[in-house]
Amino acid sequence: PVKIVTIGGGSSYTPELMEGFIKRYDELPIKEIWLVDIEDGKEKLEIVGTMAQRMWDASPYDVKVHLTLDRREALKDADFVTTQFRVGLLNARVKDERIPFSYGMLGQETNGAGGIFKAFRTIPVILSIVEDMKELCPNAWLINFTNPSGMVTEAVMKYGKWDKVIGLCNVPVGAMMKEPETIGKTLDQLTYKFAGLNHFHWHKVFDENGQEVTQQIIDAMYEGKDGGIPANIHDIPFFKEQLDQMQMIPCGYHRYYYRQEEMLKHGLEEYNTIGTRAQQVKQTEEELFELYKNPDLDHKPEQLAKRGGAHYSDAACETIASIYANKNSHIVVTTRNNGAVPDLPADSAVEVSAFIGTTGARAIAFGPLQPAERGWLQCMKNMEWCVEEAAVTGDYGMALQAFILNPQIPSGETAKRVLDELLLAHKKYLPQF
Ligand code: NAD
Ligand code: G6P
Ligand code: MN
Repeated sequence: PVKIVTIGGGSSYTPELMEGFIKRYDELPIKEIWLVDIEDGKEKLEIVGTMAQRMWDASPYDVKVHLTLDRREALKDADFVTTQFRVGLLNARVKDERIPFSYGMLGQETNGAGGIFKAFRTIPVILSIVEDMKELCPNAWLINFTNPSGMVTEAVMKYGKWDKVIGLCNVPVGAMMKEPETIGKTLDQLTYKFAGLNHFHWHKVFDENGQEVTQQIIDAMYEGKDGGIPANIHDIPFFKEQLDQMQMIPCGYHRYYYRQEEMLKHGLEEYNTIGTRAQQVKQTEEELFELYKNPDLDHKPEQLAKRGGAHYSDAACETIASIYANKNSHIVVTTRNNGAVPDLPADSAVEVSAFIGTTGARAIAFGPLQPAERGWLQCMKNMEWCVEEAAVTGDYGMALQAFILNPQIPSGETAKRVLDELLLAHKKYLPQF
């Protein structure tokens, strides 16, 4: 009987996770689920946790959902720990987005200055979770969804010295759900190969005869077919000439880098009118919690699809089921590189296609990248290392290095001012600085 612990259980994504576990109960016989939150999330935890129990009660399975603010009580003898918390909740994200925009820079949950600060707030917390796990559930797997997922997962391996960790994102799931039909295929006919970093990966696709069909999918997307871009990203097309040269499909987030000017312009327009994504998401969250309060609701509501993380359980629950039942499923995960991407050191965390079984993730070799992609990748990976180190040490100079290296932050006095303002705005959640 399996014990699952979910940290950040008060998230509006919890019904998504429950749906994924219910669907897979036959291969993953869960006995208990512990949803953990903190005082600030107590009300959300109660509402969504009660809803989660209703979902199980409406299923044929006998599973108890425990709600607690006591993380250590929950972690005792856990088999799988999933993390979906947000330090400072959505109000902190509003600051991550609005402060950079107020200086004319991109304000985004995982990219630019906001993404760096989300890492600064989150990494100390995930490392304290790892310390508890060493004591209370030393054999458990940590399945991380908390953003910035790549950096948070790498910090667990590098600074937490915890190897049983897998990082997840729903973006590859969305691409694999939508792209096959753009060329009249189904997913089981195609072979996908992903490589890069979280929110910075590319992929190639092959058909059932081993013929590469990447170009066909690129062409189909320029005929207006939906390639599965997440709900939170404004769809400005990539330059077709660039993709034709690259012969890979970039992830949705590459827009912030390949069409930086246009994405910034769009973000600033929203900042000046309807508000940033975080402000929009606050409304969606309120709607969702109103629905969750309804004692007759016992399944995931449609409205959850408005959130960028839709279908996240397809990654999370399939990863857990694959480890538990040694399924060796192909899942795109953040894991140790081990040579899969030879342009990065073997011990770095990468987001790649992998086979998942009882020993965890086995990254599939992708091979070297062309100069343009290699240059971006190495810049971004080194930027991530600066962020992680600053998050652990609280070194101001290292934080400044990360800012100056980040392509979304023009270097100079304004960069330093944004850094200082964010440090002040998030002081409560940054004891290391
Ligand atoms: P949210 O604001 O609802 O936060 C989730 C819960 O975390 C809240 O109930 C909050 O009280 C709780 N929390 C905060 N600090 C905590 C702590 N120290 N310990 C335990 N719980 C704590 O967030 P959300 O919008 O549901 O997103 C949850 C997380 O998932 C975020 O980090 C978000 O970036 C991430 N996310 C990741 C992906 C992905 O692709 N990997 C997709 C969507 C969301
Ligand atoms: C997906 C990503 C997440 C991201 C989220 C934002 O695009 O994979 O990592 O942060 O959605 O969604 P939201 O609805 O919160 O803006
Ligand atoms: Mn993601």
